[in-house]
Amino acid sequence: MQTITRLDPLRSALETLRCDGPIALVPTMGALHEGHLTLVREAKARAAHVVVSIFVNPRQFGANEDLDAYPRQLARDQALLEAECVSLLWAPEPAAMYPEGYATNISVSGVSEGLCGAARPGHFDGVATVVCKLFNQVQPDLALFGEKDWQQLAVIRRMARDLDLTRPHVDAILGVPTKREADGLAMSSRNAYLSAEQRAQAASLPQAMQAAIWALTRGEPVASALRELEEILLAGGFSSIDYAEVRDPDSLTPVNDPTSQPARLFVAARIGGTRLIDNQPVTQI
Ligand code: PAJ
Repeated sequence: MQTITRLDPLRSALETLRCDGPIALVPTMGALHEGHLTLVREAKARAAHVVVSIFVNPRQFGANEDLDAYPRQLARDQALLEAECVSLLWAPEPAAMYPEGYATNISVSGVSEGLCGAARPGHFDGVATVVCKLFNQVQPDLALFGEKDWQQLAVIRRMARDLDLTRPHVDAILGVPTKREADGLAMSSRNAYLSAEQRAQAASLPQAMQAAIWALTRGEPVASALRELEEILLAGGFSSIDYAEVRDPDSLTPVNDPTSQPARLFVAARIGGTRLIDNQPVTQI
C-alpha cells in the first residue's frame, strides 16, 4: 500500500491503478475501527483497487467541538489498511486540502437541515465541501459511506445529483449497514472517549431505540414513544438528548405515522462530553 500526502503524486498513482479496473473510494477521518473496515471490505468486493482517505477535516468541526482531541493514529491505521489489501492511502496535510486563500464552500439545503444539521451548524457544509474535493481528487468509480451517518449519506447523494457528478455517479454512492458492538452500540471513533462506566451506559442507546421502534410499530403515537426513549436514555446515564426524531428515510422530512409510510428513527445524545448518534428503520421487530 502506498501512502500519499500530495496531489501530484496522487494523480500519477491513480493513473496507473486505473489501468487495472474500477477504483473504489472510502473516505474517513482515521482512528479506524471495524465499521470503517466493513466499508473497505465491501469496496474490495466491488473494485479492482480500494483507495482510502484519512483526513480530519477542520471545516466540519464547530468551534466548540473535538477537532484537537479527535483521535489521530496514522501508523495503526496504515497497518489495518495494509492487512485489508488497500492499494492507496490518501492522507493529505490540511494545507494540501485547503491552501492559502481557500474560499469555496458547498452548501446542500433541505436534507442537511434539522437533526445533526441543526445541532451542528455548518457541519454538513464542511462534509459536502471535503467530499466533493475528495471525489474530484480521486475520481473514483464508486464511493462507500456508512448508514451510521444516514443524514451525511443523504447530503452526499443530493450533492452528487445536483452537481452532475459523474465520478462517482450518484448511483455509485453506496450505503453500508451500521456495524455494531456485541451489545448493539454502533461502532464509532468517538466511543474511544468513553470511560468504562460510560461505555457500559452507552448500550442504553440501542436498547432505548429498539423499545421505541417496538412501540411505534404497534401504533403508539410518535411523541409518547420518543418521550419514553428520552426517559430510558436519561435513566441509563446519558446527560442530554440533542434530538430524537422519526423521519422519512429519503427526504428526511418528519413522519407523524410510521405505520403508514417508510420511516427511520434518528437519535443524538450526550454521555459526559461525548456525543453519540444512531439511526434505525422503524419496522416490525
Ligand atoms: P468517519 O467518521 O471517519 O467515518 C468514515 C465512514 O465510515 C463514514 O462513511 C461513516 O458513516 C462510516 N462509519 C462510521 N462508523 C460506522 C459503523 N459503525 N458502521 C458502518 N460504517 C461506519 O464520516 C466521516 O468520517 C467524515 O464525515 C467524512 C465522510 C470522511 C468526511 O470528512
